[in-house]
Amino acid sequence: MRVIIEPSAEHGSQRAAAIVAQLIRKKPRAILGLATGGTPLKLYQELIRMHQSEGLDFSRITSFNLDEYVGLPPTHPQSYRHFMTENLFRHINIDIRNTHVPDGRALDYETYGSQYETMIDEAGGIDFQILGIGRDGHIAFNEPGSSLGSRTRLKTLAPETIRDNARFFGTAEDVPRLAITMGVGTILESKKCILLAFGKEKAEAIAATVEGPVTAQVTGSALQFHRDVVVILDEESASQLQRRSYYDEVEEAHRRLQSGEVK
Ligand code: F6R
Repeated sequence: MRVIIEPSAEHGSQRAAAIVAQLIRKKPRAILGLATGGTPLKLYQELIRMHQSEGLDFSRITSFNLDEYVGLPPTHPQSYRHFMTENLFRHINIDIRNTHVPDGRALDYETYGSQYETMIDEAGGIDFQILGIGRDGHIAFNEPGSSLGSRTRLKTLAPETIRDNARFFGTAEDVPRLAITMGVGTILESKKCILLAFGKEKAEAIAATVEGPVTAQVTGSALQFHRDVVVILDEESASQLQRRSYYDEVEEAHRRLQSGEVK
């Protein structure tokens, strides 16, 4: 795992956007895995800015979102389809037909889950997966106890997640109890992953994910098995990491390599 600690969420989001933009420029038909929630908002704003002022072209991009609440139609203001439309898709030139968000109203979730996996496979697999993390260490909606080999399926939200997401719905009672989510195994198959976390409330989950043992109780920790993960943090979310000075050293070495100071 490469751990990059930036001074703030703004800097971290800009760093992440630069990495996404580099991939899009190199591979205009890239398959992106997208996340919702508060964490990627500044990253999406930066991508929108790059599209509008630098011509970053999304016209051949395909996207797959991680998850969706069960029971919410795409038009519901709290549905993740609506979130993506409002916070990214309608501001860039992505072809909406190439955007995929799991269907929160599928009737047969088992069949639907495998269809979603097939769609990802047929598109060529996810080149670049953007992830946030829950306070309980979940990635997508893979709550503690989720199988580390899991695929897209139904998941019951944990009480912490319901409490955390109540801020978007008004009350905890209004938060759906079920979601359809990519599995940990699905995420591990992406070619590259960026995990973003900002704020002190994520510090414990980040320490467990990056430095703790791999355990289904913190599904983010499964990323230790991923071949190419970049973790982008702000000072607060990095505050419980034990090996902070080493991560800074690695970044310094990267900087020197890139500037040609080290041959
Ligand atoms: C959202 C998702 C979740 C969130 C996580 C953090 O698509 O997959 O894992 O990334 O719950 O949410 P925020 O960013 O709102 O703190």
